[in-house]
Amino acid sequence: MTRNLLSIDDLTVSEIEHLIALSGRLKADLKARRPHAWLSGRTLAMIFEKPSLRTRVTFETGIHQLGGDAIYLAPGDIQFGQRESVADIAKNLSCWVDVIVARTFSHSSLVELADASTIPVINGLTDLLHPCQVLADCFTLSEVRGDISKLNVVFVGDGNNMVHSWLYAAAKLGFDFTLVCPAGYEPDPEVLERARKNAKSTLSVTCDVEEGTAGADVLYTDVWASMGQEAESERRKKVFAPYQVNAQVLANAADNVIVMHCLPAHRGEEISAEVVDGPHSIIVAQAENRLHLQKALLAWLLEAPEAM
Ligand code: CP
Ligand code: NVA
Repeated sequence: MTRNLLSIDDLTVSEIEHLIALSGRLKADLKARRPHAWLSGRTLAMIFEKPSLRTRVTFETGIHQLGGDAIYLAPGDIQFGQRESVADIAKNLSCWVDVIVARTFSHSSLVELADASTIPVINGLTDLLHPCQVLADCFTLSEVRGDISKLNVVFVGDGNNMVHSWLYAAAKLGFDFTLVCPAGYEPDPEVLERARKNAKSTLSVTCDVEEGTAGADVLYTDVWASMGQEAESERRKKVFAPYQVNAQVLANAADNVIVMHCLPAHRGEEISAEVVDGPHSIIVAQAENRLHLQKALLAWLLEAPEAM
């Protein structure tokens, strides 16, 4: 059966643990200059409806490092869902390439693409979810803290695609997760309910910054206006102003709090420059680990024997 990675919720706990362990192995091998040609002759098609630095470069570099090739399809190239149907794109790409990563606006377009494809489809971010980022972040946290199941991860900001993927990750991996957000910017209630249904941990939502961030082990934030919400930027700047991750919020968290951000960051908006560039921040390690986690994901979905 062809496996996709559309949501962290599609993975079992042991599959997530396997991907994290494999990422660690691939990272160590890259640093030791031990090359792997596990995906020699395989091709990745990269469909992007939105801009990207990290997702694009890490997937493209990642498949090259594993001996494969990538074809980047920029927003204007195939005019996803406009020039022809999503199903026709899926059926055509399935004849020529081995795996697709897609960054789409609507999550349902990604599901449509996956349903009509006979090759694995990876979610490179939709309006609903960003699983590759959060899987890489769990890998980064496990490197920094070892066992992550006892952590209290606090996300300050919008109840967006990042938060939805964090909710699923927390439910699976057993750490507590709190979203601190302004009223009206809570996560999708269906995602919250689905995550809570099988969660062993506590998944909370509060509007109170002081209460929500008290003793946090991890403080995470993201832009206030996601891609596609640019027209709401000015209004959101006003609503979210009390929700900036800054020195005052940091002082309310655990002494050894870890500060994370998926990037791109807007210094002076969702996070102060002193915090995002300060000693608690691990943002560069997070970005680096997108490469290793996604190499693990590609090799596993394409069933490279060494990755199973
Ligand atoms: N964090 C992340 O996905 O970055 P890009 O939008 O640059 O890919
Ligand atoms: N929530 C952000 C994440 C960017 C990586 C967005 O969707 O634009």
